[in-house]
Amino acid sequence: MTHTLNRPTPGTALVHCIVGARPNFVKIAPIMSALQASPRLRGRLIHTGQHYDLRMSEAFFEDLAIPAPDRYLGVGSGSHAVQTARIMESYEALLLTDRPDLVLVVGDVNSTLACSLVAAKQLVPIAHVEAGLRSGDRTMPEEINRLVTDALASILLTTCAQADQNLLREGIPASKIHMTGNVMIDTLLRCLPLAETKQLPARLGLTPGAYAVATIHRPSNVDTADGLARMLTVLEGVGRSLPVILPVHPRTAGRFADLGFAERVKKCPGLRQVEPLRYLEFLDLMRQARLVLTDSGGIQEETSVLGIPCLTLRPNTERPITIEQGTNLLVGTDPAVVLQAAADVLASPVPPRAAKIKFWDGRAADRIVAVLESSMPVAGQPAG
Ligand code: UD1
Repeated sequence: MTHTLNRPTPGTALVHCIVGARPNFVKIAPIMSALQASPRLRGRLIHTGQHYDLRMSEAFFEDLAIPAPDRYLGVGSGSHAVQTARIMESYEALLLTDRPDLVLVVGDVNSTLACSLVAAKQLVPIAHVEAGLRSGDRTMPEEINRLVTDALASILLTTCAQADQNLLREGIPASKIHMTGNVMIDTLLRCLPLAETKQLPARLGLTPGAYAVATIHRPSNVDTADGLARMLTVLEGVGRSLPVILPVHPRTAGRFADLGFAERVKKCPGLRQVEPLRYLEFLDLMRQARLVLTDSGGIQEETSVLGIPCLTLRPNTERPITIEQGTNLLVGTDPAVVLQAAADVLASPVPPRAAKIKFWDGRAADRIVAVLESSMPVAGQPAG
């Protein structure tokens, strides 16, 4: 896309909304809708192109009815430094011509970090949606992205009180922190009725409540032979009790092949590999599962709201609220411990109760836009 972007109507502030990778699309959807209803803010959607496959990107725009991006930067894949640098270079050029009044970033992916760095150096204020989550584990690229983005942002929009506490502990003034809730849950609640029409279990020949869903893509689980071996031991163990559906992330597919695991995966009992699923398909599959095993951040939250038992295949989580108030029953990667937890879930006749977490209620995006409006009393002039 090379057209010149129009200036927004005088009296409205221009907000660049940044997305790049799959979970960002789920988070931005309700924010774009809420911005459309705002008389004072004009949202402009910028897609960095960090994710580009049809099933990792465009399918989410379709399922979530997100308007087509105003700009697509087309950066693609690369090492962390290469990808971050490409996003920065290409976003800086756009920011300098388009001159937004505010840059809104979501989550913790490389696009979040890269665009925040560009905005900060050009003195454009940043709003960070999903601020303050901390795993305490700096070997996770996302933890670095979260720490830097929060240090640069002037409006920090959080999903829970624990995130507020993390930010306060890091010396961020309370006046910058706003607990607005969980936009991923806005999307989930809005999409559930449509997801329910997808009949995913039937389409895959599965009985509702009698299968597991697994997702793995974290570098710590899939980028080393040891990590992958642990994951496969878990999948093999669970697959002996019930079918396990594994939508395979492109990173994981690549590592299965590169690290010589393709044959073992093919022979894994009960395991069904499928392509990455569209949002509505995945939601339908997840809501009827007996058990979910995942290393994703967002899925810990989604299963909690759906009341589906979740075992988190990571040494830690930045979302402890899902353990305390949700259905995140275990966080760990030791196969013996995970398999015992899976056996406990399968032996329990009563599924856990769906979590009711403060502000995870479908209205987070409205709260976010209200905060942004009150932070920009005069177009182009952030308050404070
Ligand atoms: C990224 C995020 C991660 C998030 C995940 C969701 C960072 C550091 N990581 O991880 O936090 O949980 O997205 O999916 O930003 N690839 C494709 N097609 C695509 C995109 C990627 O084939 O559309 C392949 C490429 O080989 C690429 C690899 O997947 O090298 C990894 O992609 P990348 O964006 O670097 O990180 P993710 O693992 O997807």
